[in-house]
Amino acid sequence: MPHTFDLLVIGDANPDVVLGPLDAPLAFGQHEQLVDSGLLTLGGSAAIMACGAARLGLKVAFAGRIGDDDAGRFVRTALNDRGVDTSALRVDRTLATPLTVVLTRPDGDRAILTSPGTLTATGPEDVPESLLGAARHVHAASYFLLPRLAAALPELFGTARARGVTTSLDTNDDPSGGWAPDALPATLAVTDFLLPNAQEAMALSASAGTAPESIEAAAAALAAHGPHVIVKNGPDGAVAHDGSTLLRTHGIPAQPVDTVGAGDSFDAGFVAAHLRGLSTADALALAAACGALSTRAHGGTPSQPTWDEAVAALSRNGKNL
Ligand SMILES: Nc1ncnc2c1ncn2[C@@H]1O[C@H](COP(=O)(O)OP(=O)(O)OP(=O)(O)O)[C@@H](O)[C@H]1O
Ligand SMILES: [Mg+2]
Repeated sequence: MPHTFDLLVIGDANPDVVLGPLDAPLAFGQHEQLVDSGLLTLGGSAAIMACGAARLGLKVAFAGRIGDDDAGRFVRTALNDRGVDTSALRVDRTLATPLTVVLTRPDGDRAILTSPGTLTATGPEDVPESLLGAARHVHAASYFLLPRLAAALPELFGTARARGVTTSLDTNDDPSGGWAPDALPATLAVTDFLLPNAQEAMALSASAGTAPESIEAAAAALAAHGPHVIVKNGPDGAVAHDGSTLLRTHGIPAQPVDTVGAGDSFDAGFVAAHLRGLSTADALALAAACGALSTRAHGGTPSQPTWDEAVAALSRNGKNL
């Protein structure tokens, strides 16, 4: 049976309010501080990944939970505007849509405040059973922000895989610093591609056993749990480990305006390349180009590339797919 979607993304979606740069310490005591710029944009790792994949030409559905409020309506409209199907995005009548405020500093550092709202309540009932077989691939994001969904991932991914669907997970950061949820080993066993950044890979691997000395060692240690592990490493590119072989891309150069969402755009590129049947080496290069190109503008989604733009950027840097 033909699939209705190429990709189902499950996880977090929220408005990001980005303000800055703030040149002084943040002042309480009812002080108003003026900064040069403010931006309201779509945030949430899963939402940014879904938009990146749609921009690359995939048919994408999104599953998750929002509140019955203006923030939730903003999220749905932003996803729809970028071609992401939100029929499965559920509205919670009691909890608020998550909200994030990002305060930037002139040196690029940032403070991030998030009210989780519906995230803590989001669970397996927000992922329609029928959708798990309706897409060729399922991606989950923000593992540590969605504890109920995280606990259900072994079953959700297991069901998807039993239907011939491939799976990927970008854990993102663990704000609690704990890094050791009970369900992680069972989740990794049904995850085809694990997509942490360098710091996350080190922390995940340390929580699973001994502290690794390098991202290559972390990738190898995590790959021993089952998935093909791809570790994103900012301007240095990324490495991939499939349990026996290590691959590396140095990425393409960028003069970043804003790196928010680079990792999610990388994930979108990797999954799109996988679904097109590219080799892991080529998928890694394409994904790194998507990450780099996404840094051209403020916000996670505005400068995400099309497939042709990503291929052209690689070719300008001497890599032809
Ligand atoms: N300054 C940069 N120059 C070139 N490429 C970059 C740069 N920053 C990011 N990239 C590309 O984007 C990919 C993902 O970036 P990064 O390692 O920052 O992910 P992340 O920490 O998960 O990001 P996010 O903030 O979205 O969670 C990198 O592996 C790299 O290929
Ligand atoms: Mg990330």
